[in-house]
Amino acid sequence: MPDVLVAAELRELLPVDPVPGCEIRWLDASSPTPGGPYLAIVPLLSRRVGEAELNGLPQLRIVANCAVGYDNIDLEAAARRGVIVTNTPEVLTEATADLTWALILAAARRLKEGQALLVERRWEGWHPGQLLGLELNGATLGVVGAGRIGQAVARRAAGFGMRVLYSDPAGRPQLEDAGAERVGLDRLLAESDVVSVHVPSSEATRGMFGREAFAQMKPGALFVNTARGDLVDETALLEALETGHLGGAGLDVFAAEPAVPDGLVDHPRAVTLPHVGSATTHTRRAMAELAARNVQAVLAGLAPITPVGAAGSR
Ligand code: GLV
Repeated sequence: MPDVLVAAELRELLPVDPVPGCEIRWLDASSPTPGGPYLAIVPLLSRRVGEAELNGLPQLRIVANCAVGYDNIDLEAAARRGVIVTNTPEVLTEATADLTWALILAAARRLKEGQALLVERRWEGWHPGQLLGLELNGATLGVVGAGRIGQAVARRAAGFGMRVLYSDPAGRPQLEDAGAERVGLDRLLAESDVVSVHVPSSEATRGMFGREAFAQMKPGALFVNTARGDLVDETALLEALETGHLGGAGLDVFAAEPAVPDGLVDHPRAVTLPHVGSATTHTRRAMAELAARNVQAVLAGLAPITPVGAAGSR
């Protein structure tokens, strides 16, 4: 009987023997979580590990989620059973911040519409009024949630000459030393030309971007989300794009992945991606290896490397 369940999609990113001394059962994304005397599981973010799954895994000692977010894991159910939960912070911070900027730039400079002009053979030549976008230099970036990824996104703003506002339960002195200002969410929404979201999904944050929040944003502002889709009421977002109140959106995450509302995919001002924030070879390997090292540590009776708990924003 194998000891450890590992998402099969991680196989090519991991060494041949990812948890030395343990036998691995590779688990396809489409297979339900099997029950049995497994000691550890390394799931992808798309696998729910809740009460039902944990009931079937009575010997489980660790859920080593291969993601920084862990909204797919029922933390309370795990804690009740003494099961440790870990995630993969830090190793994906820079890649995710880069992808966030790819979306900010794409939305600001209307790349989707420009690309469509060429792909659909509709371009009729240079025109001074064509595809005018947002000038980032001098504009304001609002970072909602200044955990590791939010801070990395904010740091990059200096290179584009942007003023930075951030909202977070905690002050971030390093950001403020670099000129960023901590404000309440209302002021951030009212003053930002680009709002970028970096909070974890939780009961407190789910749906926080709905009609009211979008109405508070500046006319023509851009909304970017590389955190979790369920932070957003997608119908309200689409409405804000359709009325022209928002100037554009950059979305890497959706509320019910892999389902993505057609209206968003098709909207010329919405740049949509299939949840690829951390998708570089280097980062995905580092995530898989960190998850495996958490399993090794816990099965060896050592402290987990990156346990979740009071992790704060991402
Ligand atoms: C990706 O969304 C992650 O949480 O790592």
